[in-house]
Amino acid sequence: MQPITVNLLQWYDSHHRILPWRISPRDRLAGVIPNPYPVWLSEIMLQQTTVEAVKPYFRTFVEKWPTVTDLAAANLDDVLRAWAGLGYYSRARNLKKCADIVCGDFGGNFPADVDRLKSLPGIGEYTAAAIASIAFDLPHAVVDGNVERVMTRIYALATPLPAAKPAIRTRMQALTPSSRPGDFAQAMMDLGATICTPKRPTCIICPLNDNCAALRTTDPEFFPVKAPKKERPVRLGAAYVAVSSTDEVYLRSRSEKGLLGGMTEVPTTQWTARLDGSTGMEAAPFPANWKAVGGITHVFTHFELRLKIYTANGVDKQPGPDGWWVKVEKLAHEALPTVMKKAIAAAIPHAFAKTRKVE
Ligand code: ADE
Repeated sequence: MQPITVNLLQWYDSHHRILPWRISPRDRLAGVIPNPYPVWLSEIMLQQTTVEAVKPYFRTFVEKWPTVTDLAAANLDDVLRAWAGLGYYSRARNLKKCADIVCGDFGGNFPADVDRLKSLPGIGEYTAAAIASIAFDLPHAVVDGNVERVMTRIYALATPLPAAKPAIRTRMQALTPSSRPGDFAQAMMDLGATICTPKRPTCIICPLNDNCAALRTTDPEFFPVKAPKKERPVRLGAAYVAVSSTDEVYLRSRSEKGLLGGMTEVPTTQWTARLDGSTGMEAAPFPANWKAVGGITHVFTHFELRLKIYTANGVDKQPGPDGWWVKVEKLAHEALPTVMKKAIAAAIPHAFAKTRKVE
């Protein structure tokens, strides 16, 4: 084992985070065998969501569905309801599809093989490597954003991301031990989450401070090196907040495919580069007394969206062809992405006044 691996595992033995899906290194050493189901479930939940946000959802899921067989037998709507608030609903749909396949094709046992894991819905390169190493002790390099940051610092890799990814993977594979690969992967994650943080890392208490080229030669905060930002294109459109005489808002589901797939929205036009007839008041989903109430801007990774907001009050609750009506005070229970909350709040300022931000 390389000195970095030894130092990190030693640190993990006494400083690991206690997480509901994790087997402690002491229990692991005493021979407790990991159960792949909670490992898989937690990894899917942790994609794009923080550890703190995931904990209560994880507990609810394992209580309701203690095994992958129970999850496969569950009703998809119940699973989606238990998922509400975690966001990115395609993950929940894939979770259920994956449980169905594991039970239908693999006799209820997750395959102990990265390629077969990768063939399952919702399991990509990172998640397959995480399950293989944590649940099955297979020495695969587990590389997520935290690990990328730690590795670019240890090796002072000056290549910007994403070009640095292959070099990071090669180095991470070389560090991954054949004994305790799962603990090593989780130790890297814990180090990235608690010490080797994006801003103001606490190098003074880092178990790898003697091994860190960035600390030796410059400032670890300079890593990972970022490629110069491309200018974000602007897209334009309009959103329509219809409010009924009984204080309900008209909502609908976004298509499963594409940005914010499967999440809830108020009707909007296409988001295009120009303002024209398809992005104005004329494009409202149904006739009503629409009036303009201003605009909102929301920045996505690849573009900036500017939506003009129209609202209409006392709208007759004609059921839209594909939508539903929700009381203003119940809007917080809907799977509304931030951009849609902003659009609604522009028309109904008190809509989310008392709710905690979950995203
Ligand atoms: N983030 C993603 N997977 C994780 C894990 N197994 N432990 C801690 N943080 C994580």
